[in-house]
Amino acid sequence: MVNVNYDFIEDYIRSLIVKKDEDLEVLRKYAEENHVPIIEEESEEFLKFLLKLIEPKKVLELGSAIGYSAISFVKNQNAIENLVTVEISEKMYKLAKKNIEDFGFQDKINIYLEDAYVFLQKTLDKFDLIFIDAAKGQYENYFSLAIEKLNPRGVIICDNVLFKGMIANDDLVKKRKITIVRRLRSFLEKIESDKRFTSSIVPIGDGILLVRRDNG
Ligand SMILES: C[S@@+](CC[C@H](N)C(=O)[O-])C[C@H]1O[C@@H](n2cnc3c(N)ncnc32)[C@H](O)[C@@H]1O
Repeated sequence: MVNVNYDFIEDYIRSLIVKKDEDLEVLRKYAEENHVPIIEEESEEFLKFLLKLIEPKKVLELGSAIGYSAISFVKNQNAIENLVTVEISEKMYKLAKKNIEDFGFQDKINIYLEDAYVFLQKTLDKFDLIFIDAAKGQYENYFSLAIEKLNPRGVIICDNVLFKGMIANDDLVKKRKITIVRRLRSFLEKIESDKRFTSSIVPIGDGILLVRRDNG
């Protein structure tokens, strides 16, 4: 099992997804062949749906990898005026920058080579949607800063929060992942019990957390 659902459920959902975008498929294939983790197909479909509902103008993404999700978001939601994406690996940054240029999105997508937490500390911008997809052990730290960078009615989306099922089942936890698992569990417990937020964990792909502050 790769993600948090049975393989047959995942395969079935994926079999229904019509591959409308051959250029993005080339990027996904590159990611698969080079073992670069990018958003799961069914999670991408779900986020495309959410993007249509939220209609964000300004988006922040933490963790660009090869730029796949940033390009997919901008391609699928014309309302996005600007998407800022932050990546710590120079190799990934360069690949993402090239892909963004190849897709002609250099005017809409700004990529920064920086640690996501440092970026959050520095930026003065506010966003309608923040997609957290960088270091899993840092989600709580990212979130504490990201929530201050959110416009009223803004939404934070965190990917991989069920972390291959390890979050929900001790038997699945790999020894070298224990710290990340503990941190993710603590993060989820805090968010879910915090009365300032409306949140939901969606068991799709590798698990997606949706959070909105209850202030408007
Ligand atoms: C799961 S991948 C992102 C996938 C991408 N969002 C997509 O779906 O196409 C996570 C990325 O976060 C980057 N990353 C890890 N720690 C980071 C940090 N502290 N700051 C910024 N990026 C980080 C990794 O180098 C990796 O490329």
